[in-house]
Amino acid sequence: MLAAVTAIDIRRHFAPFIIVIPTYNRRFPMKNLELETTLAQQDWNDRARKNALHYICSERKDWDLESFFKSGEADYDSLAAPFLSKLGFATEAMSMIEVGCGVGRVTRSFARRFASVTALDVSEEMLGRGRGLHKDFHNIVWTKGDGKTFSGVESRSMHFAFSYLVLQHIPSKELVLGYVREMMRVLKPGGAFCFQFNSCTYPTMNWKGRLLWRLVDESVEADRSSWVRNGGRKIASVIGVDGLAAGRTWRGAVLDPREVLETVWESGGLVHRIRDWGAPRTWCLGIKDEL
Ligand SMILES: C[S@@+](CC[C@H](N)C(=O)[O-])C[C@H]1O[C@@H](n2cnc3c(N)ncnc32)[C@H](O)[C@@H]1O
Repeated sequence: MLAAVTAIDIRRHFAPFIIVIPTYNRRFPMKNLELETTLAQQDWNDRARKNALHYICSERKDWDLESFFKSGEADYDSLAAPFLSKLGFATEAMSMIEVGCGVGRVTRSFARRFASVTALDVSEEMLGRGRGLHKDFHNIVWTKGDGKTFSGVESRSMHFAFSYLVLQHIPSKELVLGYVREMMRVLKPGGAFCFQFNSCTYPTMNWKGRLLWRLVDESVEADRSSWVRNGGRKIASVIGVDGLAAGRTWRGAVLDPREVLETVWESGGLVHRIRDWGAPRTWCLGIKDEL
């Protein structure tokens, strides 16, 4: 008994310093959705303050605004436009919701084509920057989400729902599937959805990278108190890795596409296509049933 208590205390209080607690997350899966969403808000606010553009699109550290928004337009062209035109949507008279809009990288491309855009995000820091960068766009409604629902967004009010580079960061499967249900709820019958999630079934790093990130993730996640999380992040920076790109709010839940399909169907959606099954960027496209 004493040994067990001592082990737990060591984990809780010294985790960032001893770092190796490889089974922590599996043995103590976090089920407190309230806490998960609070941590997501804090972490995304921290990322926005440090370098919003980089944490939105982490392939570059030094984005200039022009190339950043060009990348958003390119994503609109390749990810949303073909589906919208296949459906024959006259977007200029339509409303849409972007889930996890960040500072509006793709939002502005939607705002140029849709009558109104609800730009939802969990981070007020991201939303504040987004508002500031889009003062001339009067059809964007910047909306602070609670991290679990799209409360405040009316049911059956949207023609289109889109989400990219967001669900892959959400810490638990329950929350991701809850978001899928919410997308179906807010869509009008006949409305369309196009969202990306992570269903990766293979390692995306070599063993050294995996080990290093595992240690950093574990030290950040060992305890929910901010001093342990910040301690883990400081240690990460000492060993030359970015502690803000660690933990469950960065490396979120990996889903089996079958669970996503089931959730869409149960909530009244009809899936047209799942693209890149088993990859980090899996897409689910379809429409809400007319019934
Ligand atoms: C990597 S950025 C992508 C932003 C945008 N989708 C883009 O492609 O430019 C992820 C965004 O998702 C937001 N986010 C993370 N968890 C969220 C949640 N549970 N609900 C809503 N937004 C969330 C973050 O605040 C951040 O702005």
